[in-house]
Amino acid sequence: MPDIADRQPFEAFETLRPLSGRLSRRHWLAGAGASLTALALPPFAAAQPTEGLTADGFRLLRARPGEARLRGPTAPATPIWGYEGLAPGPTLRARQGEELKIRLVNELPQATVIHWHGLRIANAMDGVPHLTQMEVAPGASFDYRFTPPDAGTFWYHSHFLSSEQMARGLFGALIVEERAAVDVDRDVVLVLNDWRLTNAGAIERGFGNFHDAAMAGRLGQYITLNGEDSLELPVKTNERLRLRIVNTANARIFRLRIAEHVTRVMAVDGQPCPPEVVPDGVLRLAPGTRVDLFLDAALKPGSRAPILVDDLRGGELEIGHLVYGDGAPLRAQPLAAPHPLPANPLPDRFDMAGSLTIDVPLDGGGMAMMMRGGGMGGGMGGGMGAAGFRGHGLPPQDRIWALASVASSGHDGPPMFSVPRGRTVVMNFTNRSAFPHAMHVHGHHFRAFAGNGPALRPYWLDTVIVDPEHSERVVFVADNPGKWMLHCHMIEHMATGMAAWFQVT
Ligand code: C2O
Ligand code: CU
Repeated sequence: MPDIADRQPFEAFETLRPLSGRLSRRHWLAGAGASLTALALPPFAAAQPTEGLTADGFRLLRARPGEARLRGPTAPATPIWGYEGLAPGPTLRARQGEELKIRLVNELPQATVIHWHGLRIANAMDGVPHLTQMEVAPGASFDYRFTPPDAGTFWYHSHFLSSEQMARGLFGALIVEERAAVDVDRDVVLVLNDWRLTNAGAIERGFGNFHDAAMAGRLGQYITLNGEDSLELPVKTNERLRLRIVNTANARIFRLRIAEHVTRVMAVDGQPCPPEVVPDGVLRLAPGTRVDLFLDAALKPGSRAPILVDDLRGGELEIGHLVYGDGAPLRAQPLAAPHPLPANPLPDRFDMAGSLTIDVPLDGGGMAMMMRGGGMGGGMGGGMGAAGFRGHGLPPQDRIWALASVASSGHDGPPMFSVPRGRTVVMNFTNRSAFPHAMHVHGHHFRAFAGNGPALRPYWLDTVIVDPEHSERVVFVADNPGKWMLHCHMIEHMATGMAAWFQVT
């Protein structure tokens, strides 16, 4: 198999700024998040335990205040908001093609909704306030039921006042299991998140403040895996793990690697891809994205290997360890190179000749506002926003970012475009701002072009990083009827204009 590093398509993942130290040239991708509860589960645990269900067959998911020991077992716990009071929330497990029934019960002091990120399900279940449902008031509940068409690693999160609700902990992983067993010894969900905490360990307020919104979004100084300060992941020599990494952070792009191990990407954003060894082992994970890795535990019994992320300053932080047991290896040799995961039923016939092509420049943010003559005080006057953008559903001072020159809430105003079901759509994202953006499309997965020609990168995505002064051209078949959001997954950018919706009729 050719080394991934030889392949042109992956060049797009190189970072703009050279990284110092041990993080080197190439980085795989964009995405990340996970949950503790999954650690003990064998890969093919019953998809839906029948205990714990309501009489009418719903799994309860109560959004409510809780506590999490984010700073380690001895530091005081942090008050959070979480599904079932946990952050991350419980890992939900479903089986491909089988209906999942979830009852959201809102025990928060604010309204809320749940969005099922990456699931190509019926529009009415997509969980976007105003576009697909009304927000669920405190004390009220809402029944979500849908049948996931794709097996893979997905996640769920609040989509209302998300800058606050996600920063407080309202997210969790959703795993859709393949119909047939996958040849791994263990299935491990790793939810990667950052938290902005006060010195006393409370969630820092100031959600969606102007500074965060105009810059990189809300970044936190505490990083957790599965809500733990320093996760210890037990492994046995020659065991094969499937690591399902989910980036649930509001805005942070993580570069993650597992020291001393070869990892293979098996799926991206929930969709299987040709297995590829990660060059240098470094994954670049945008907020909202997932990567499934196979890892063969090749060290000796008794070894420890750190799980590392970049610290945004060229160094690395240890956020957990693989901890090898002292006992005998699980088997004498590691397993042979894996077969690809079974393909999902994605619409992969792109009619380029009949496609609708849309240019979507990405504009705004701190530096751009200066250049456009706007400012914090509300811009150039008239109906113009802080950065001078036309807008829908946002007061002028909140129009900091724009998609295709419009700053929108993502659910007000006319659709960015409307297409009949089955039409091929090409979107050309061009980042004219000083910050990277993670462009996410609801209800569909897309392919990204490898360059200016017709070649596609060898995987599907639901979120793509568009670096400053770069473009990403993506294509998908608009096969899912309804009203779908399209937005930056840096949540503070989404909330200040970098959002839109489109209609499939
Ligand atoms: Cu994770 Cu609008 O999405
Ligand atoms: Cu953005």
